[in-house]
Amino acid sequence: MIREEFDITAWHGPFEFETRARAQIALEHGHLLYFPKMPFQLSNSETEFLDGGLTDGKAKNISLDHTSGKLQGTSATGERAQRLAAMMERFGAGATRLVKDLLPNYSKVERARTSYRPVEVEGRVYSVISDDRLLHVDAFPSRPMRNGKRILRFFANVASLSPDGGGSRQWEVGEPFADFAAKFAPRVKPHFPGKSWAYDKLGVTRGKRSAYDEMMLSLHDAAKRDTNYQKTAPHTPLEFPPGSCWLVYTDQVLHAALKGEFALEQTFHFDVAQMGEPDTAPIRVLEKITGKGLA
Ligand code: SIN
Ligand code: FE
Repeated sequence: MIREEFDITAWHGPFEFETRARAQIALEHGHLLYFPKMPFQLSNSETEFLDGGLTDGKAKNISLDHTSGKLQGTSATGERAQRLAAMMERFGAGATRLVKDLLPNYSKVERARTSYRPVEVEGRVYSVISDDRLLHVDAFPSRPMRNGKRILRFFANVASLSPDGGGSRQWEVGEPFADFAAKFAPRVKPHFPGKSWAYDKLGVTRGKRSAYDEMMLSLHDAAKRDTNYQKTAPHTPLEFPPGSCWLVYTDQVLHAALKGEFALEQTFHFDVAQMGEPDTAPIRVLEKITGKGLA
């Protein structure tokens, strides 16, 4: 099953050995971990944040940097912004505890940005490259992962169940990363080496992009631009109802978000060397296909 279900109801351990082992194996093999019985609870006063007008109108997400407490992309100010940041922080800290308790070997996972996505996905206007309704693997132009560091994301659908049973976040996931990479990696043109140096110096990127970063960005863009691939590639629809949570390696699992509003998301970064099965990491798969070291 592409979606591995967990019956747990608490956002912390202890979890049984069998549960922890099952979680790590599923995740590293490109499955999504699905938690249908572990909702993220909003307090009464926080339900006011179920409002599509909460973004600043420019960014599609509101983001929180937990190290500085800085909140970006919101129209909320003053005391309201502080309460929004507190809600996002409670979510992000909870997600971090859950990931560390559930995944036996992930104690060194790094908590990155926390986001809140209050805008309905369906019907928004996007450029092709920023259209996450198209199948893609995550790769970010300004945030190099250098030596193949993983992008792990935990999501919670905090929408309320609508009277018609709606409110689900609707995704599609694609074929295994190795199959996707075998099709697209040979088409990617080698990048101009001076570019990553210049981007770093100009402050376009936070640190220098590696050959792995260039390749992942190319794969992200090539998949979205290939209308034939988008039409004919395998798509498995997945629904995440209000109150459910899920965890997935979005640099590995081809995904598209088609519909839904009000999701919270916590990003983690994780060293390939600390994985149970590092050979499943995108960098190792791409190195095997290209026959080159990419970091
Ligand atoms: C994405 O990572 O492509 C978007 C996921 C979502 O917002 O549900
Ligand atoms: Fe994505």
